[in-house]
Amino acid sequence: DFDNRRNRFIKIEDVPDSYMREIKKKTLSDEYYPRYHVAPKHGLLNDPNGLAYHNGEHHIFYQWFPLGPVHGLKYWYHLSTKDFVDYTDHGIALYPDEDFDSHGCYSGSAVSVDEDLYLFYTGNKMLEDHTFIQSQCLAVMGNNNSMIKKGVIANTPADFTHDFRDPSVIKRDDKLMMFVGGKTIEGDGALALYVSDTVEGDFKYQGKIDAQAEDFGYMWECPSYYEEKDQGVLILSPQGISSQNKYDYKNVFSVVYAIGDKVDVNQQTFTHGGFIEMDKGFDFYAPQTYLDHQGRRIMLGWLGNSKSKYPTDKNGWAHMLTIPREIMIKNDTLRQRPLAELKALRTEKQALHQTNYLTSKAFELVCDVEDVFQLSFENDKGDHITFSSDGMAYCLDRTHMSEVYAEKFGTVRYAKRKIQKNHTIRIFVDHSSMEIFCDDGETVLTSRFFIHQLSLLKIENITGNLYYLSNIK
Ligand code: FRU
Repeated sequence: DFDNRRNRFIKIEDVPDSYMREIKKKTLSDEYYPRYHVAPKHGLLNDPNGLAYHNGEHHIFYQWFPLGPVHGLKYWYHLSTKDFVDYTDHGIALYPDEDFDSHGCYSGSAVSVDEDLYLFYTGNKMLEDHTFIQSQCLAVMGNNNSMIKKGVIANTPADFTHDFRDPSVIKRDDKLMMFVGGKTIEGDGALALYVSDTVEGDFKYQGKIDAQAEDFGYMWECPSYYEEKDQGVLILSPQGISSQNKYDYKNVFSVVYAIGDKVDVNQQTFTHGGFIEMDKGFDFYAPQTYLDHQGRRIMLGWLGNSKSKYPTDKNGWAHMLTIPREIMIKNDTLRQRPLAELKALRTEKQALHQTNYLTSKAFELVCDVEDVFQLSFENDKGDHITFSSDGMAYCLDRTHMSEVYAEKFGTVRYAKRKIQKNHTIRIFVDHSSMEIFCDDGETVLTSRFFIHQLSLLKIENITGNLYYLSNIK
């Protein structure tokens, strides 16, 4: 019973094996469980953490609460992959076992230094009166996943409240910069900037960053900042933003990016061309990026949102990560492309007809769409989700799914169309997730959907192919 708060802080080692076996069985037998996405073997996954290309592999960590589909005591779970087809499961990397992280190893990022991976994260500690202290911590992962916690490297500065977390650390020349998200004592979302001469060193607080953001939410989570040539790109997850128009900021919390000059460390300013909402779907949060050995900027996000109950909760698990995406700057916007490696998941190919019978629920669609078009994913009872366009905008409508949830935030999403003429749209479906890449990657809609016994795809004004995807060959 997780409504009882105390149960959310039970440690994994204090739970009988039989309980773990039971939720694992329920999770893996769920018809909505994905096949080629990173998902928890049971319990709840949220933010991707510590993404890095390190020692010849891509490393992915994520926030994990093992015991059920709720936000409880968080661990960092660790996977690595060379090709995004096969993954090595390394199990739990960070345990909440120190005084400073006793109530959760919260989100953060990684810096690769020779053989070691430096993990910057937030230690969450709850006090008797249920208030929290969040401090920024460092752990060093060596060969064979050995882990040494170095402890707290930054306490909350006086201009921030106790909501102060999710360090994003990057190297610039011979210095390290750390960005921490938070809520100021005035009640605004903001970023704190720290600089250090060495990766283990003394991170000195420089101040709050002036990021040209008036009235832009009450809390900024999960900053992910990077630099490319002479530009700086800031991605973050602000809370408390909404809009009156039908296109923007419809989810409980949003993700935005801004492209600008590199952050000025002396002035603590980030001058940019404005914040742009990164995803137009229902379920996308807390993305993070890293640079790989081929110079590609790769992004993964949490394919979920807080504050909603999902239909799979009853089976003891929640959420997955997005597919890996390559991101790039083009005409002052960020473009997202499914990572090229995912083509290796393709098995059988099927040309699209008006009605298509699906033999598996894991597939990719490559669709050449006209200005007006529609796709409908259905079961034989007529439950459906549609993605369509009238030429001016896209519309994702999940009003008629078998299991509707989060109605409070609406069941339809709209996105303005950037390329109004014919073009190719790619859609990745995995049992209960849908990632739609339109407008040459400028418009992306990431969502969960729940159609019991999904079996049909109907299309109008589209030609193209369907590829079934599998990592078992
Ligand atoms: C975002 C977030 C982070 C925090 C983590 C805890 O989803 O709230 O701010 O570090 O999740 O799991």
